[in-house]
Amino acid sequence: MNRLVVGNWKMNMNLRQAETLITRLRQQITAPTASVVLCPSFVSLAKAQEIILSHKTFLQLGAQNINDNDEGAFTGEVAGPMLKGLVKYCIVGHSERRIIYQEDNELIARKVAACIRNKLTPILCVGETTNARQDGLAQRTVLDQLETNLSEITRDEASNLVIAYEPVWAIGSGVNAEPSIVQAMTLTIHQYLFNKYGQAIADKIAILYGGSTNVDNASAYLGLHKVGGLLVGGASLNYKEFSSICQL
Ligand code: PGA
Repeated sequence: MNRLVVGNWKMNMNLRQAETLITRLRQQITAPTASVVLCPSFVSLAKAQEIILSHKTFLQLGAQNINDNDEGAFTGEVAGPMLKGLVKYCIVGHSERRIIYQEDNELIARKVAACIRNKLTPILCVGETTNARQDGLAQRTVLDQLETNLSEITRDEASNLVIAYEPVWAIGSGVNAEPSIVQAMTLTIHQYLFNKYGQAIADKIAILYGGSTNVDNASAYLGLHKVGGLLVGGASLNYKEFSSICQL
């Protein structure tokens, strides 16, 4: 399976800063060892696409969010048909959206379906909180998330899916998860997908790790069995660091 490295810029970088960062990444990443996906804010996507198309770079784009409806009176929201043709991927179910914006598992399931309906590959984020892990409920939490979040798509549609394991306690905290924890959860997720969809489809679904990754710890995850890449937050804003991760 091809390695995938996704940069989640979150609510950072204005249009000019985004332009500069994309240009630097384009120049710096000369020998990528992964497919590289950048997820800038919505306002920078059109410019990012323009740069990518005019320079014919290998960089790909993703959105950070999507509305579950395809159009309508939803002030401030962005729908799948607006993203179609602009991005290939869309992050769904990020813990910041689950926690800060109270997105529940059912809404995330509809967002996954909205991605598939609009020919976007969902990068579905799952992961447990500190409390869930301390209570021995890490696996249960992730399996419950998967069960509901994947309930609105068919078996065939599931082959166009990326899962990101992002323990909430590791995101933006500087406390990256021990590789052994990531290995165990990745295998749990893969086994779940195998049981649900069969081997052929389960093998097509990349499982990424995300949570305080940087150039120093990335290799430890990329070497794990069934880990297909990384979802990088903070470190994706630094072109030297992110370029290095993409060329490990
Ligand atoms: P981080 O964020 O790398 O800054 O921890 C990861 C993410 O939120 O996807």
